[in-house]
Amino acid sequence: MASVELKQVVKSYDGKNNVIHGVDLSVAHGEFVVFVGPSGCGKSTLLRMIAGLEGISGGDVMIDGKRVNDEPPRNRDIAMVFQDYALYPHKNLYDNMAFGLRLRGTDEAEIKRRVMDAAKLLKIDHMLDRKPGALSGGQRQRVAIGRAIVRQPKVFLFDEPLSNLDAQLRGEMRSEIKKLHHRLGATIIYVTHDQVEAMTLADRIAVLSAGRVMQYASPSEIYNQPAAVFVAGFTGSPPMNLVPCTVNAGQIDLGGSIVIALPAGLNGKTASNLSFGIRPENVALNASEGSVSVPAQVVITEPLGAETLVTFQVGNCEIVARCPASFAGKPGERMSIHLAQEHMHLFDAASGAHL
Ligand SMILES: Nc1ncnc2c1ncn2[C@@H]1O[C@H](COP(=O)(O)OP(=O)(O)OP(=O)(O)O)[C@@H](O)[C@H]1O
Ligand SMILES: [Mg+2]
Repeated sequence: MASVELKQVVKSYDGKNNVIHGVDLSVAHGEFVVFVGPSGCGKSTLLRMIAGLEGISGGDVMIDGKRVNDEPPRNRDIAMVFQDYALYPHKNLYDNMAFGLRLRGTDEAEIKRRVMDAAKLLKIDHMLDRKPGALSGGQRQRVAIGRAIVRQPKVFLFDEPLSNLDAQLRGEMRSEIKKLHHRLGATIIYVTHDQVEAMTLADRIAVLSAGRVMQYASPSEIYNQPAAVFVAGFTGSPPMNLVPCTVNAGQIDLGGSIVIALPAGLNGKTASNLSFGIRPENVALNASEGSVSVPAQVVITEPLGAETLVTFQVGNCEIVARCPASFAGKPGERMSIHLAQEHMHLFDAASGAHL
């Protein structure tokens, strides 16, 4: 196990345009860190630079305090699990998992011990003589993870390992990976574009956008104290409601004659071109202490079984609320909704920064 540190890491593929713009980030020994962000933001590039599969255009990558910029992948003692598994089709599962160890000259008894241990952990020990072609996607994924485990690397790198699986299997494998982390206590860096995976797996999440780290913090901090509008809009399902607004004379003006008192703790400086943010679970049907009531009209309801998502028209904008499954309002119906003041956010629309 080991720590990983990125210092002002820059990547350019063409020598002119940077796709990674000076990333600083440290991963502690035994920590589970998730890189999350939309397609093309640079997640795989960062991971591949840590693995040594991609050159580093600027800055330093440190593993266990040692600069590894110029070390080839085999000297970095990391194991990477790829999205497409990258198994050898003609080798059976045992040989797929043993391959890397054989290359390193590990003796066969030790290989057998490690492969059997990993196979038991991943519940594939009864199928070790099969070829990858005779496996389901989830089983193949387990083999790819097993191949990484037998290496006993300092750091595990996962690049979207679950994205080829169906929704149910994703959920199952997600909790398997989390259990695995508890059992191995390994340092893991895990890439995904799925914010649910990020929230459920990570000790810390790095939210990336266009080659920059927008926020690096615990899942609850990312969720409750988003540092930027991008982070707020990327996390949560449905994500935070974001509504254009202005602040004037201690009030937030959402347009369409909807004005609410500025809650304590938010910057009350007069400003235009702002975004007002509130999460769907902080919008209630009943008034309570510390909430602000606004007139609303039901636009659509989306029953999810355990709860119903309701989209309300509020002035000129739409606000989604998580409502009880018993919500009986019909489109067009008018009512008051109640916004929890302590969960209100203001962002500068131009810079995206939290105010
Ligand atoms: N080999 C390459 N040559 C040139 N540009 C590349 C290369 N690989 C990636 N890029 C560019 O670098 C940026 C980051 O790509 P990267 O693959 O790291 O994104 P990602 O966050 O992993 O996206 P995804 O979620 O789609 O996998 C993109 O703009 C991409 O087009
Ligand atoms: Mg990628």
